[in-house]
Amino acid sequence: MTLDIIVGAQWGDEGKGRITDLLAANVDFVARFSGGDNAGHTVTIGQEIFKLHLMPSGIIHESVTCLIGNGVVINPAVLLRELSGLRERGVTVNPDRLKISTAAHLITPAHIALDKADEAFRGDEAIGTTQRGIGPAYSDKINRQGLRAGLLAEPEHLADAIHDHIAAKNLVLKNEYGAAPLNATDIAAQYADYARWIAPFLADTSLIVHEALENGRSVLAEGAQGTLLDLDHGTYPFVTSSWPTSGGALIGLGVGPKVVNRVIGVAKAFTSRVGSGPFPCELSGSEAERLRGTGENPWDEFGTTTGRPRRVGWLDTVILRYAARVNGLTEIALTKLDILSGLEEIPVCVAYELDGHGGQQAHPITHFPASLEQLAQCRPIYETLPGWQEDITAARSLTDLPPNARRYIEFISQNLNLPLSIISVGPKRSQTIMG
Ligand code: IMP
Repeated sequence: MTLDIIVGAQWGDEGKGRITDLLAANVDFVARFSGGDNAGHTVTIGQEIFKLHLMPSGIIHESVTCLIGNGVVINPAVLLRELSGLRERGVTVNPDRLKISTAAHLITPAHIALDKADEAFRGDEAIGTTQRGIGPAYSDKINRQGLRAGLLAEPEHLADAIHDHIAAKNLVLKNEYGAAPLNATDIAAQYADYARWIAPFLADTSLIVHEALENGRSVLAEGAQGTLLDLDHGTYPFVTSSWPTSGGALIGLGVGPKVVNRVIGVAKAFTSRVGSGPFPCELSGSEAERLRGTGENPWDEFGTTTGRPRRVGWLDTVILRYAARVNGLTEIALTKLDILSGLEEIPVCVAYELDGHGGQQAHPITHFPASLEQLAQCRPIYETLPGWQEDITAARSLTDLPPNARRYIEFISQNLNLPLSIISVGPKRSQTIMG
């Protein structure tokens, strides 16, 4: 009985969907445990590109059962759109293959309106959210006012719950933000319609995971976002409102730690982030453009959910050591190594120089600072490694890689004291090296 957990080791967009897709071929269940449709997981199979936001990436493997756990927040409109998009492309999505926790929470148009209003209200201090209603939906959950997915199986309660919810949110929208109120009757009708489609998928997913593990089946927990977006361990307040770290997988699926086997931290061969907040290794100008790409390719560094250009920088091992610590990583899956091909030299951040403040001398630190103020005062200390000029997209084993690419991998592995178990050298499923 094994539960393997995939988490993002940076600020999200590390390529978790692709790693999940790879490992899903050998598991029985793939389960999403946190976040909602703020996530964007791109999986390329042959000529087909699947962009998934809510659906576990395992859905593309017909032999896999997919779960959406209690830790997820669900926009039913997005779920149904994804469901029908997948069916149109020949993927089977039925209640045997997809189970949705009755304890997951629902996102409503009021949550989305509040997310947008709050971001506008913050002005220059905006978080840069995906405006998908994530924060307000989790706020309601924490505040014990949320609407759980189980309501979709109780039409008699659903309408009342939606009416009460919209009435309460309209007061906030009107009084706090001066925003237009929403029509509760229309939304209740919409949700009654969603309920008819979604109710057959509802289940006790914690029990399903438990029984699966008891029966010797394998479960892969698919993380969304990344360690530095974690509500507790990320760069608060520039974080998402859930727990994308490995602890969040246990809560978000309803399992205890005894069953955990591998904890795979997915890291891109460089760093990116979207939204606001400090980013010590951030690059600008032509160096940034080189890493980001032009946006012509689906794998370029532009948000899958928002289309925003991502902020980019060199690989930061201070962040990765932190991710190893808070997630208990057993290994790293390194993605997009091919993007670094052709560079003369590749800087890797190995420590920060923390600016002196309060009369203190500037000094180097090797751990990720616990305070955002300190992080904002950190400058990267780089070690520069030699680059490689060869195209590595056809490499299928470590020995196929040029010596300097191997050196880059070994350097990271030694620095983190972790094996690099998977390395991706191109967007296709086959462009992978098992380390
Ligand atoms: P929210 O999750 O929409 O509330 O956004 C909060 C912060 O998390 C913002 O900085 C977003 O850009 C960031 N974020 C949320 N989801 C993702 C993701 O899947 N990848 C990268 N950043 C994300």
